[in-house]
This record gives sequence, C-alpha cells and structure tokens, in this order.
Amino acid sequence: GKVAVLLGGRAAEREVSLKSGTAVLEALLRCGVSAQPLDPAEHGLETLISEGFDRAFIVLHGRGGEDGQIQGALETMGIPYTGSGVMGSAIGMDKFRTKLVWTGAGLPTADSVVLKVPEDLAAAEALGFPLMIKPVHEGSSIGMARVETADGLEQAWRAAAEFDALVLAERWIQGAELTCAVLGREALPMIRLETPNSFYDYDAKYQAATTRYHCPSGLDESLEQKLRQLAVDAFEVVGASGWGRVDMMLDASDRPYLLEVNTVPGMTDHSLVPMAARAAGIDFDALVMRILETSL
Ligand code: DAL
Ligand code: MG
Repeated sequence: GKVAVLLGGRAAEREVSLKSGTAVLEALLRCGVSAQPLDPAEHGLETLISEGFDRAFIVLHGRGGEDGQIQGALETMGIPYTGSGVMGSAIGMDKFRTKLVWTGAGLPTADSVVLKVPEDLAAAEALGFPLMIKPVHEGSSIGMARVETADGLEQAWRAAAEFDALVLAERWIQGAELTCAVLGREALPMIRLETPNSFYDYDAKYQAATTRYHCPSGLDESLEQKLRQLAVDAFEVVGASGWGRVDMMLDASDRPYLLEVNTVPGMTDHSLVPMAARAAGIDFDALVMRILETSL
C-alpha cells in the first residue's frame, strides 16, 4: 500500500524535518516502497485521508508532530504510523514531565527547576552555575542557552520563553555528551559528541564542521553496555516505542545523567541515529525500512 511520509509541519524545527523527511522519502523510494511526502502545514492530512494512504511514516519534529497530536489523529483515523504512540510522544516532547517520570522510576537526571515567574529565578540560581536554560517543549537546541553567572539568567529565561511558556533551568553536567539510538527494543552503539561550542547547540548539530562524532564511543565495554541499558529503560519508562534516541551526559566519575528522549529524532545526513545504525551494520535504507516496520 501507499506510505505517507509526514514532514515539515509548523514547529520551529520545520527546516530540520524537511531535510529528515526528504532523506526518508528517498530511501523508501529506493527500496521500492510507494511513498509520497505530505506536509500537515500544507493540507497534508486532508490528502492523507482523501487519497487513502495505508500507513504514515512520521518525520515531523517538535510540537504538533512529535508530541502525540498527529499520533492521536492517526489513531482516530485508524491509520498505522511509525514510532511512539500518543502518550510516549507527549511525555517525550516535554522535558519537565520526562524528568518527573525518570525521577519517579529512580533513573538519574540532572537537577532542574521550572521557570514560570521571576520569583523562580532564585531557585535556579540555587542549583549553581553553569545552568542550561531550555524551552520545555523544543528540539534541536532551539531557544537554549548555557548561562555562566546569575547576570545572564533572566535574559536567557526570557529568550527561551519566546519559544515556550514553560522553561527549564537544569544544572550543567561537566563531562561527555552521549546519545543512544533505540531501534525496536534494542540500543544501537552509543555516540560521543565533542564540540568547541559552549554546548551541542543548533550550529554544532546541523552546520558546524567542527563537531566531532565518536562511534564507537571509546567508552569501555561494560560502561557502554550499562549506558545502553539505561537508554532503553529511560525510553520505555516514558512510554516511547519503536525507534528514537536518548541523550545523556556522563560526568567525570562516569555517572550518567539523562537529558531527554527524542521520539522522532533527526534523519538528516548529519543526524545521529543513522550514524549509530551504520556502526551496527545497518545502512540508511535498511534503517528506514526497519522504522517503517514499527508501524505494523
Ligand atoms: N530534535 C532533533 C530533530 C533530534 O533530536 O534529532
Ligand atoms: Mg530533542
């Protein structure tokens, strides 16, 4: 049957999604799947209904596409789709609730406070600096800043609040940034990221040639295995399924701190899930076909 590749959307990560979605579409076509791109921001859902697509391959990043809304619409229409269901998508898009679930499950994550009103800034300062300031429901580091002193805090909060009414201030974990792709119920090899930027920001993710990716990660085998298991546990406990990616930091004492779950991670040529899959012997086309199977 016909597969609708859902891409674009109205979120701040629209441009990333267009790249991810185009790469996925091309792979499906190379594999002989009858597929077509549909953009919900351009009446794509109407077309999906009227032209009788059998399945949806969701490559929408951010709110409206990665947060359970599209997943709920597809459930209601009875159209199978790739990746996480409504609840896993909704929790995964929300960095604050994700942390509540992890903390409740006894999984490690950096201390944080939610900033809603100016009075909350004092609680953030009490966490100590540097702090990461993040919109709760964004991706690709959009609206994020690393704040070194109390002076920069209010301005970083206001900048993040341009993107989201809820902003998180999280204690900075000094150490290695790691990410772990999850495919089915298995973790792929971890990737360790290094950037000369002050953190792994939008530029480091999509533009800079200076970002270094280590896969294999260079961690010793037992630690790698422990962190992979942590990633799968962190993924499953928020209700995510099918495929995705879990980001974490590892401090100088090899203690991990979970950062977030991505239920529709990037699939661009710079992206991490394809890189991890390659290290596991799964090329891009095979990866896309494996993800397509998660809709069954
Ligand atoms: N939010 C971006 C697309 C990622 O996690 O890869
Ligand atoms: Mg993300």
